[in-house]
Amino acid sequence: NWSLNNFIDEKINEIKNEIKDKKAIIALSGGVDSSVATVLVHKAIGKNLKAVFVNHGLLRLNEENEVKKIFKDLIGINLNIVDSKKRFLNRLKNIYDPEQKRKIIGEEFIRVFEDDAKGHYDYLVQGTIYSDIIESAASGKNTAKIKSHHNVGGLPENINLKIIEPLKFLFKDEVRKIGEILGIPKHILYRHPFPGPGLAIRIIGEITEEKLNILRRADQIFIETLKEYNWYNKVWQAFTVLTSIKTVGVVGDERNYDYVLAIRSVDSVEGMTANWSKIPFDILEKVSNRITNEIKGVGRVVYDITSKPPATIEWE
Ligand code: XMP
Repeated sequence: NWSLNNFIDEKINEIKNEIKDKKAIIALSGGVDSSVATVLVHKAIGKNLKAVFVNHGLLRLNEENEVKKIFKDLIGINLNIVDSKKRFLNRLKNIYDPEQKRKIIGEEFIRVFEDDAKGHYDYLVQGTIYSDIIESAASGKNTAKIKSHHNVGGLPENINLKIIEPLKFLFKDEVRKIGEILGIPKHILYRHPFPGPGLAIRIIGEITEEKLNILRRADQIFIETLKEYNWYNKVWQAFTVLTSIKTVGVVGDERNYDYVLAIRSVDSVEGMTANWSKIPFDILEKVSNRITNEIKGVGRVVYDITSKPPATIEWE
């Protein structure tokens, strides 16, 4: 693609000319936008870009390893993985309220990032894309009040760095194509959106290590099964929710009392509205069987058949 190749060359030159031999930092989440921004700026300034990946303990199964494998080992990014699991989980103890979870995670994220950014950085790179600008301009009216979308990885308010946003005027599909040209694997570029607060807003009520482990495995089974049946790319976003409610079941002659797990999948364009996905029953059945057979602690699986509105996509 001529014009995108051109864009990449021009951007790399522009970034080189601006940053020169100074240092830049970026919060890499492993999502599409921060991944593409990281690799693009890396092409321009190499090791003078440091990418920081914060593991807040609310990530999906193998997420940290995957990011390390691709960005550090394969592409050669100067990547710092910060293990902050304990720090986040401690602060989230006894927190039930969704908005409070978001607030704590947002605050804590900025602190961890600032700790790491201390030192000799002049520039902060951000993966802002065109729709982010439009959305934040529109959000004063209604959407932001429904949920405070802490875009984790967002700008620490009083950080003293110059901002570089190389993807600012691009649409998502252009960002993906640029990512392909830059050699980022497709499964990173075409993955479903994942919220900054991660699994914290997919566990209703209090977050515990035990619940996180259950949810990570359930999510993995659901996503793996969708891929197996070629449904992953047909839906906009799919995930599981741990309801924290227990119900009665029976295994052999034994009565048990275990969690209800919900599976959620939606079709959408930008997430502002969404329809629940009409996934074939045999796929849902397979997911339910695998989850109840393989995960101790889950006794019942339900499928969320609510569209947005009136429900939001996430449960919290
Ligand atoms: P809702 O639940 O508001 O979700 O219908 C719409 C889209 O936004 C994502 N989402 C978030 N993303 N921080 C984020 O970075 C958040 O706090 C947050 N809450 C929801 C959600 O996954 C969906 O893609």
